[in-house]
Amino acid sequence: MTDLAAFARENGIKYFMISYTDLFGAQRAKLVPSQAISDMQADGAGFAGFATWLDLTPAHPDMLAVPDAPSVIQLPWKRDVAWVASNCVMSGGGPLDQAPRNVLGNLVGEAAAMGLTVKTGVEPEFFLLTPDGSEISDPADTAVKPCYDQQAVMRRYDVIAEICDYMLELGWEPYQNDHEDANGQFEMNWKYDTAMATADKHSFFKFMVRSVAEKHGLRATFMPKPIMGLTGNGCHVHVSVWDAASGKNAFADDAKELGLSDQGRHFLGGIMKHASALAVITNPTVNSYKRINAARTVSGATWAPNTVTWTGNNRTHMVRVPGPGRFELRLPDGAANPYLLQAVIIAAGLSGLRTKADPGPRHDIDMYAEGHTVTNAPRLPLNLLDAIRAYDADPDLKAAMGEAFSGAYLKLKTQDWNAYTSHLSQWERDTTLDI
Ligand SMILES: Nc1ncnc2c1ncn2[C@@H]1O[C@H](COP(=O)(O)OP(=O)(O)OP(=O)(O)O)[C@@H](O)[C@H]1O
Ligand SMILES: [Mg+2]
Repeated sequence: MTDLAAFARENGIKYFMISYTDLFGAQRAKLVPSQAISDMQADGAGFAGFATWLDLTPAHPDMLAVPDAPSVIQLPWKRDVAWVASNCVMSGGGPLDQAPRNVLGNLVGEAAAMGLTVKTGVEPEFFLLTPDGSEISDPADTAVKPCYDQQAVMRRYDVIAEICDYMLELGWEPYQNDHEDANGQFEMNWKYDTAMATADKHSFFKFMVRSVAEKHGLRATFMPKPIMGLTGNGCHVHVSVWDAASGKNAFADDAKELGLSDQGRHFLGGIMKHASALAVITNPTVNSYKRINAARTVSGATWAPNTVTWTGNNRTHMVRVPGPGRFELRLPDGAANPYLLQAVIIAAGLSGLRTKADPGPRHDIDMYAEGHTVTNAPRLPLNLLDAIRAYDADPDLKAAMGEAFSGAYLKLKTQDWNAYTSHLSQWERDTTLDI
């Protein structure tokens, strides 16, 4: 057990950020001086849960964020501060079941009880914008096909290399950085890990990218579709499942189609079966639906799916099997909550394993050009309301994610949708004023 007070002494930490992630993916923290960390490590830091995106009322007692000490990270860009992920419990009660890190912890536990360890890698794309967020920060970044643009990535070398240096220092094993398919868009890749470790790294990565960008006078955004007409911010997830006892990849079987074992196929079958319902978690905002289902972008492709299909090494489908022993879910976007994202993949996958679900036929076609030839595959939700309804109509997935979580999430997401529909847009005025 990591002793945070000792960690502070050894590393010169003055403050700990005791951090938790709410239902909408916002990271909340209290800055606690090292002198007070021992008590906080034992009892947690108190929060008024209602003040964040959780289904609690102002009358609820304190919600306590109890640090999960092994997750502690000294901020590489501000070395007297350390970040630590925490689990939410109610004062005088038990764990807050709706809290995203608890939901993931429960599902990781379920997989462990089946003798399985889920390992995942995420690819969170982001844009670097001007500080007010209104436009791409690099005025020279105008190529029609900007992916892997050598000149443009070097104009942002100071930001990208600083973040990558930090990941190297943290032992995350980053291995490549590039300019992505939209002007102003970048991606940085590091090695896969267990689902909880990946979720913590994913959270910290977002915090780190935003912080380093701010330091350089820029603004980073993971918003799914910040600029219409340009490719949006995806957050693909690569998934494999390992046998805990043998330490072997349970998805790998060279004798099977695409090197994916029967267990891999069943897990994938669960993802395919619950795809329309899990979209409300992988694609959780009104804006998310401008990325999936989008019209062709300036670069020629959206790189996002619109239909529930899978294939081999082909980036036009919802699921790609890039090589033996793993698959890539290309549906999630940059707004996905890092913990709920991992949780819903495990929930759907385990249900597929239990029911021996079949992912259906593979479609080895260019979905962007020939998608109309696939007539029996479900479409993904067209908007957030469709997605909310699809989740609500999937009792198995709701139960697998936990009824307390599912009720809370549906309630807050419905409020989110209602807030959006009560907003009067310029488009409505433009199209309706003279009717
Ligand atoms: N067996 C595995 N299980 C889970 N994740 C894996 C496994 N092998 C590799 N990964 C992870 O998959 C991710 C691959 O991301 P990378 O961007 O390199 O691939 P890509 O999907 O081909 O890229 P893009 O979608 O941008 O074209 C990394 O995080 C990597 O560590
Ligand atoms: Mg990918």
